[in-house]
Amino acid sequence: TVDLDTVVMGSRIEYYTDLPTTNGEAKKLARAGCPEGTVVVAESQSGGKGRMGRFWFSPRGRGLWFSAVLRPMVNLVETPQVTMVVAVAVALAIREHTGVAAGIKWPNDLLVEGKKICGILVELNAEMDRVNFMVAGIGLNVNIDSSQFPPELSETVTSLKIAAGHHIPRVPLLRTILQSFDFWYQRWLREGFVPVLNKWRELCVTLDCPVTVHTMKDSYVGHALDVDETGALLVQTPDGEVQRLVAGEVSLRKI
Ligand code: BTN
Repeated sequence: TVDLDTVVMGSRIEYYTDLPTTNGEAKKLARAGCPEGTVVVAESQSGGKGRMGRFWFSPRGRGLWFSAVLRPMVNLVETPQVTMVVAVAVALAIREHTGVAAGIKWPNDLLVEGKKICGILVELNAEMDRVNFMVAGIGLNVNIDSSQFPPELSETVTSLKIAAGHHIPRVPLLRTILQSFDFWYQRWLREGFVPVLNKWRELCVTLDCPVTVHTMKDSYVGHALDVDETGALLVQTPDGEVQRLVAGEVSLRKI
């Protein structure tokens, strides 16, 4: 695209002051046939969605709450890789643009000093074995002060303003993120998952460290060893066994 200097990202940008959720609006546009790279941005979300049905705190004017429509020509089994493409792209954009050392917590949270700064929610629309479209939703806490977070979040979340120590203008930051997202998305399409996975490993802060794993059934303590070639996390339990964890089934706490 001309102004953004990207291949697809931001081919069309829809700006709203308020939406229930940018993912929902992006899905509507995608179903109506919008071009790949269409981005939906909102100043605030009344029903921001997190993973596992959680709520995403999206106060007006203080974050980047946006979703991009993707139409990758890949197999269904490869679609979970998109989340990791986004995590790498956004972590690197934050580092480049602000100097804040954002790291990745498996599978796709971005953390700064152990606290969550960004969440990613990728949704898939497929028929039979064909991908129709995907929506990549990104929620980045930019200019939120610690006193503005709801009390139940205040211990576990942070913002760029808190981490950098000053206000961060959002528009240039969004531009950097869209450019980085475009770069890593194109690279993934051309070169496959390996370069993404290598960069992801470098940025991950929950490898080679003790973790608590929460599944539907139980919780246990283990040691995060690595991710395999599909992006699944390999965790060694105290009895020496290695468990393969697939995103969406479990949550992780670094200890
Ligand atoms: C998570 O960490 O649980 C994922 C959070 C994703 C939040 C973003 S904000 C923009 C987009 N719209 C939504 O409703 N959710 C995503």
